[in-house]
Amino acid sequence: MANSLLITGASQLLTLRGRAPRRGKALSNLGIVKDGAVLVRNGVIAAVGTRAQVEAHPEARGAERLELGGRVALPGFVDSHTHLIHAASRAEEYDLRIAGASYEEIARKGGGILNSVKKLRAATAEALKQRAHAALRQFAANGTTTVEAKSGYGLDIASELKILGLHRELQQEQPLEIVSTFLGAHVVPREYRGKARGADDYVELLATRLIPQVAREGLAEYCDVFCDRGAFSVKQARRVLTAGRACGMTPRLHAEQLARTGATQLAVELHAASCDHLEKINRADIRALAKSNTVATLLPGCCFHLGLEHYGPARELIEAGAIVALATDYNPGTSPTLSMPMILSLACTQMRMTPGEAIAAATINAAYALGRQKQLGSLEVGKLADLAVFEVADYREIPYYFGVNTCGMTIKRGKVIYSRAEACA
Ligand code: NIG
Ligand code: FE
Repeated sequence: MANSLLITGASQLLTLRGRAPRRGKALSNLGIVKDGAVLVRNGVIAAVGTRAQVEAHPEARGAERLELGGRVALPGFVDSHTHLIHAASRAEEYDLRIAGASYEEIARKGGGILNSVKKLRAATAEALKQRAHAALRQFAANGTTTVEAKSGYGLDIASELKILGLHRELQQEQPLEIVSTFLGAHVVPREYRGKARGADDYVELLATRLIPQVAREGLAEYCDVFCDRGAFSVKQARRVLTAGRACGMTPRLHAEQLARTGATQLAVELHAASCDHLEKINRADIRALAKSNTVATLLPGCCFHLGLEHYGPARELIEAGAIVALATDYNPGTSPTLSMPMILSLACTQMRMTPGEAIAAATINAAYALGRQKQLGSLEVGKLADLAVFEVADYREIPYYFGVNTCGMTIKRGKVIYSRAEACA
């Protein structure tokens, strides 16, 4: 017997149907259905349309019913860039930054990513897992149904494998989908610093030992590098990403956050799935992205948290025809948020994206950035029934309200995984 669910009463159902990924003007096409309904069979969408259309489906009659009472429903957010597993906050650095120290100054003094590495190595797997479970519940409470997760706070063989192993365990223990990325090349670990070839030796360890092992154990689908000033050079990034690709891992990159290094050109050359941050890109980089299928993922939470005035050039990227996505970059150093609605608010006010563009960038284009555009990111027959339901009357109110969570319900594969009514009861 099929397990069917009939969802009705969406005042606006944002289907995001149609061609994926979205570029240029198509980014704001949300495919809105008024008085929308969705029929779900075994976790997969069997019909989408108006209430009248979907209720006429032969399976609708026997289905369990979920009435949304006029709320706005859309595909669950796909958060395509997070550093899910970390041991603790870096609130001590927040104080320093507010007092005037820059992110890079703090990192040079041994804070920054290395501070989080020290904390992670000292933490038990169980403590890391509990923290990640709590974060994943918060992601769900904010309408996110799929989360990419990067390693990168271990930076030695055992600790990196521990993080990637946790991605796998978490996948089995909770409902959100986790897409695992290996980011052993986050920064050069302390043990390799202060030696002539320290960074290159670490890169060789990654390329010849750790990446093959990660691939053998099937622990990561993507390989990422923080290619920036103070982290890894373009040459080192190329070595890591080509080793990853040879083992079946698709490249993605942290690019041009702190300085323009040429990382975006490398991403395009290697057909990376995405290159992320992009605050410092130039016109040639924008043109290269526009001609490519590499997603330009903007992370405005970083600029906000670091108190920077200059955000990624969203308008120029969209107008040039690049595939733009948005993500939280959830991490303890630059973006301690797991709220995609907050990211949408920042995208609208700070980067001048329209609410419609921001929503498409956080759903269908983000799904494309993770190679999941056939299963996720829009509400269409055959895709997973992943939905976020917001307690608003108009979809523009999702970014319009900020600092409050208006998500009322989150559905993953046709199952309610978060309900504000229950959370508040
Ligand atoms: O995406 N830029 C590199 N990685 C993170 C920051 C990590 C940290 O500071 O802990 C980012 O912003
Ligand atoms: Fe990041």
